[in-house]
Amino acid sequence: MHTQVAIIGAGPAGLALSHLLARQGIESVVLEHRDRAYVEGRVRAGVLEQGTVDLLHELGVGERMAREGLVHRGFHLQFAGERHRVDMHELTGGGAITVYGQQEVVKDLIAARLRQNGPIRFEVSDVALHGLDGERPAVRFRQGGEAHELTCDYIAGCDGFHGVSRSSIPAGALRTYQKIYPFAWLGILAHAAPASDELIYAYHERGFALQSMRSPTVSRLYVQCPLDDRIEDWSDDRIWSELHARLDLADGPPINDGPIFERGITAFRSFVVEPMQFGRLFLAGDAAHTVPPTGAKGMNLAIADVRVLGAALAARYHEGRDDLLQAYSATCLRRVWRAEHFSWSMTSMLHRFPDDDGFQHQLQLAHLRYTVSSRAAAASLAENYIGLAP
Ligand code: FAD
Ligand code: PHB
Repeated sequence: MHTQVAIIGAGPAGLALSHLLARQGIESVVLEHRDRAYVEGRVRAGVLEQGTVDLLHELGVGERMAREGLVHRGFHLQFAGERHRVDMHELTGGGAITVYGQQEVVKDLIAARLRQNGPIRFEVSDVALHGLDGERPAVRFRQGGEAHELTCDYIAGCDGFHGVSRSSIPAGALRTYQKIYPFAWLGILAHAAPASDELIYAYHERGFALQSMRSPTVSRLYVQCPLDDRIEDWSDDRIWSELHARLDLADGPPINDGPIFERGITAFRSFVVEPMQFGRLFLAGDAAHTVPPTGAKGMNLAIADVRVLGAALAARYHEGRDDLLQAYSATCLRRVWRAEHFSWSMTSMLHRFPDDDGFQHQLQLAHLRYTVSSRAAAASLAENYIGLAP
């Protein structure tokens, strides 16, 4: 088997890249180790920047998102018993974000790709990358008990943080930057109307909480929890009582409870490798970098990477130019580090740190008060939240 670009991983990065390449007449094969139902059911991010929304429209997969996605022009910061609206739209001269679940994006990308007979191979195992520093790399894998070899011109490593691509690069060729945070998020989906039309990011003495949503009848809610908590430690009653304690205001309606139909704990990690390339292997999305979810940047960065990679591969195939491929890592890393800083800053402003003796708490309150009282500070937050232009 031969293809032009072998794509490892059918997450947002790998799937969007397969569409970008197809539109340029470049062949690809996507290799995914999970089955389709698993990939489509994996609940993760929910906030799409305008650049991500625009790209999905350009790829012709934006129709359901336009119908079901919720456009938000602001969000709330809550602390010291008060809720403050950050008017993103006004502060950024017209910016907004769209709330639409990552797994809905993934479903739309898969359905459209399969309609075009684009090859996505689910349930492959033992994926191994070979010849990365030569002219003709190859991916070996097993499917249905048979061994296969896919030769290609380039490999796109879009297989997430735990994938095989990054670890196929020889030790010493990459520099790794990492920060682990001393807490996690417990996230739920519940059949309950969101208490507010817009997201509420709450800093509370008991820890962070977030009211988000997926539709007018489904809430997505998160609470900060200790790093080593297990999902079994959290009964429904405990989850709702923490959410009420952290999100309800004395003088407003409480958040709405409802049956919980999905729950999970997400650890926090800021992680970057440099460069995002080795020979003919290009890393994109979580394979190259992760951010804590507080800034809602993870999936948006993954999509931004493959926009750059798709254009660089098109320049290579259609114009015989290598310069954009050579600049790929540096181009992406500028956006990545901006998002790393923003995600770290939002995380630091909004969470309780277990080893804090009170000093950090006071700094966080000062940061929050400044953000909601200075137009310049609020505009900076809003500009980062809606995302940099492509
Ligand atoms: P992924 O979505 O991870 O896709 C990688 C794909 O590669 C997967 O389908 C995987 O099955 C496949 N794969 C892995 N290894 C192999 C292999 N060896 N061979 C073949 N295929 C392989 N971001 C936010 O902004 N907000 C959130 O609330 C949020 N919540 C998150 C919760 C969790 C549990 C996680 C893990 C991430 C969360 N993120 C969140 C981050 C966001 O979801 C990611 O940034 C985004 O999924 C990155 O997309 P990707 O395509 O790079 O990687
Ligand atoms: C979500 O809706 O899942 C969500 C929203 C905002 C975040 C993270 C996750 O910062």
